[in-house]
Amino acid sequence: MLNWRSVRHVPNTRFTRSIGPERKETPMSRVAVVTGAGQGIGREYALALAQDGHHVVAADLNKDAVLALAERAKAQGLDIVALPVDVSDKASVEALAAAVRRDVGPVQILVNNAAIYHSMRQDPQLTVDIDYWRKVFAVNVDGALLCTQAFAPDMIEASWGRVIMQTSTAAYLGKGGHYGVSKVALIGVTQGFARELGPKGITVNAIAPGPIDTEATRVTVTDEIMQRLMTSIPLGRMGSTDDLLGTLRFLVSDAAAWMTGQVLVVDGGLTKRL
Ligand SMILES: NC(=O)c1ccc[n+]([C@@H]2O[C@H](COP(=O)([O-])OP(=O)(O)OC[C@H]3O[C@@H](n4cnc5c(N)ncnc54)[C@H](O)[C@@H]3O)[C@@H](O)[C@H]2O)c1
Repeated sequence: MLNWRSVRHVPNTRFTRSIGPERKETPMSRVAVVTGAGQGIGREYALALAQDGHHVVAADLNKDAVLALAERAKAQGLDIVALPVDVSDKASVEALAAAVRRDVGPVQILVNNAAIYHSMRQDPQLTVDIDYWRKVFAVNVDGALLCTQAFAPDMIEASWGRVIMQTSTAAYLGKGGHYGVSKVALIGVTQGFARELGPKGITVNAIAPGPIDTEATRVTVTDEIMQRLMTSIPLGRMGSTDDLLGTLRFLVSDAAAWMTGQVLVVDGGLTKRL
């Protein structure tokens, strides 16, 4: 007979150690790593998790950007530690994991947000340079794989964890290309990890935003494409980073305890107009 207790994963607060007197410690404080937190959506994710009392590590290829974020957070009384990482490089990811464990503590929330998006090339599949294609996959897909491999052992040890992948509606629009296909692949990575890590008490879900008003979107998406997208969004406007925060907070919370392998599309209805 199945013992219900054996299949329930009670939130583990064993690793919510106090790291400094200035830190806001609540029963739900956890160590959270956000990749690609130097700007845009990742920066807002990091700030939101810190505002909720989590001990946040903001990791990015752009070290100066995460250092600036940590300074800004400090001025607001928030707890964000800045660390450099190249998510496409296994040694760099392992160095990040070691530094986080040593300086902050075991990780229970991982947000795989880093991607090549800002200023990305728009080459069609027919002519895209294979080295560029591989570079995009190395960051957008391998990066999430490597970071999850590196931090999952902490979550397995705690029998509790949350992994959030940042995919995109580009995965649903059928346009292909290096970016769109990488975001489709990331959904596969999400589902694979959900299956493997579910029995360990770890949920793995993805957020698929539609067009969000970030610096990168303003550079990457032309006005013409943006106008076309606007007419396809039932809610009639582009998204803001704030529009994503409720979904992130839900996915890391215990309200989402029995949900894994899912993609939450936050796009103003864009993909429902197909
Ligand atoms: N902005 C949008 O409209 C939108 C829509 C859907 C999905 N997304 C996804 O959301 C995420 C963030 O979007 P954004 O608009 O903030 O993009 P962005 O380009 O401004 O931010 C990406 C961040 O990732 C970092 N990064 C790039 N390569 C890295 C690497 N190898 N290692 C570590 N960090 C690296 C960059 O330095 C940057 O800080 C991306 O995954 C993007 O694909 C964005």
